Parts: sequence; C-alpha cells; structure tokens
Amino acid sequence: MKVYVTRTIPDAGLSLLKQEFTVDVFPHDRLPTKPEIIAGVNDADGLLCLLTDPIDKDVITSAPRLRMIATYAVGYDNIDVATATKHGILVSNTPGVLTDATAELAWALLISAARRIPEGDTYCRQGKFTGWAPQLMVGQEITGKTLGIIGAGRIGAAMALKSTGFHMNVLYTDTQPNPTLERELHAKRVPLEELLKQADFISIHVALSPSTHHLIGCQQLQMMKPTAVLVNTSRGPVIDEPALATALKEHWIFSAGLDVYEHEPKIHKDLLTLPNVVLAPHLGSATIDTRSNMARMAAENMIAGLHGQLPPNCVNPEAYRKKP
Ligand code: DGY
Repeated sequence: MKVYVTRTIPDAGLSLLKQEFTVDVFPHDRLPTKPEIIAGVNDADGLLCLLTDPIDKDVITSAPRLRMIATYAVGYDNIDVATATKHGILVSNTPGVLTDATAELAWALLISAARRIPEGDTYCRQGKFTGWAPQLMVGQEITGKTLGIIGAGRIGAAMALKSTGFHMNVLYTDTQPNPTLERELHAKRVPLEELLKQADFISIHVALSPSTHHLIGCQQLQMMKPTAVLVNTSRGPVIDEPALATALKEHWIFSAGLDVYEHEPKIHKDLLTLPNVVLAPHLGSATIDTRSNMARMAAENMIAGLHGQLPPNCVNPEAYRKKP
C-alpha cells in the first residue's frame, strides 16, 4: 500500500510508516499546491496531510484508492470530512499530545501582550533604551485578575488550569459544563457576553465551524474592557481580523496575542504595524516533543486504518461502521 505525505514530518512517524507501506513524501520544503496534492494522492491508499492542506472534495474524489486520511494536527477544519465519510474514507487527528504545548503558547502570548515584551525587545535592539523610567512601557498586571476562556475543551481547560500561580478568577463559555474547572478553580460557566464584559484576559480555544466563524467581531470587541488582552491560538477565522485591527488601533482593547490568522499565512496589513499586538507564526504545537508525538500518533492512526482497524483518533467512526 502507498501512503502520500504532504510534507516531511519527524522521523518518529515517518519511520513507523516506512515499516508498513511505500511512503512518498512531497519533496519540497514549502506548502504543496492543490494540484500537487492531487497528483501525489492519485494512486495512494493513505494520505498524511497538514492543517494547511485543502483536503476538499476535489482532492478526495481524485484518489480512487484512498481509504485513510491522517492529519498531523488536532484541528481538521481543512478536511471535507462529510465527503470522506460518504466515500468510506476514515479521517483521524492528533488530540491530546499538543494540549500542553498549545496552552503554554497561549500563556506566552498572554504575558507578552500584557507586559509588552516584544515591543520592549524591539525598543532595546533599536538602541532606544536610555534608562529606567516611571512610565516606560507599563502594561497590565495579571495576578488576581479575571481570565475568560472561550471553549473549555482540552486546550482551553489546560490554559485555565495553568492560571493557578496567578491566583485568577476564571470564567468560561462552552456548550458543556467542565466539572474539573469548576472543582479545581471554582471556574464559572457564563454566557459569552458576560465573559467578554468581565474578563481582563480572554483566550480563545474553539474549533472552527460555521457556528464559531467570526465569533469575535466588532460587537464583541466593543463589549470588552479597554484594558482587556485577547489571545487566539485556535483558528484565525474565529476572529473578524479587520475588526480586531480597528479595535487595537482605536484602543477599544489594550492588546492582543495571535498565533493564527484569518487568511493564513497572510496577516492583515494593519496588524503588522501596530505595536499592541504580538504575532506568532502558528506555533501552538511547535515543541520538539510534541511534534514527534504528533508524527507518531498520525502514523499509528494511518497504520490502524489501512490495516482495517478503527484508528485510535478517528473523527468519523461512522465511515468505519459503513464498511462492508
Ligand atoms: C492543530 O494541531 O490544530 C494546531 O493548530 C497546531 O498548532
């Protein structure tokens, strides 16, 4: 059987795949185009893809032998799962292994945006630091403030649980209550509007879907405190990016920390020049340990799926049940 891999991933996963299958890896160090993915997957039984690959109906239906799509990510909004399911193709992701890495990055952005660290770094490198000053780059204090978590699933809950050292009051929104957060942190589940009005720090952790697209727009940004710091490590289109640029420019909120963008890898031109936003190039899961674990997990899913078993992290088990 042949597996097509759209970008080199850590050897922890590639070596496992190579023990079982013929493995064809996209040979360039750049994102493959859609025609290149179609050409690569054409005679493949399995596709190991990245969150940046558009695995839509055209790609899926161009591969007559395809039985398994393993994405090297927890988010799978780039994959047309409904079409895959219709064709009996299993889809898997990599949940759990990147939870702490992504929550850590969310905290790094929160602290950087609250305490203006990248702005200060640029200032020092430009030779502008001439001495301590009472009003130099004063930011927002974190300890004892209110943290608002939008989406208290695995990553949102990990972010909240890491707040204990800062003795924060935690609010969250989710379709489901999170008993761990309520027990451990006395966190309170509140409607989104209440969270936006009360939180000092807001961190977004929802999957992208039609119901979360532009969840944060002009109206929601206007509800936030002028001292609020907004962090997004989920998916860019959850925030209306031009609205956020206006909010930062006009100081409706204090600052933002972003790891993801509405039209990734493009970033709204105003965000590139504003001093009160910290920008990271989608680094949520980017630790050496996590990326190896993701590679291993994606490979294990692929191996199970192509050997006729239900992959451990299958997102469309109904496709498995449909099999003869
Ligand atoms: C994912 O896996 O979905 C994350 O966005 C990677 O950082």
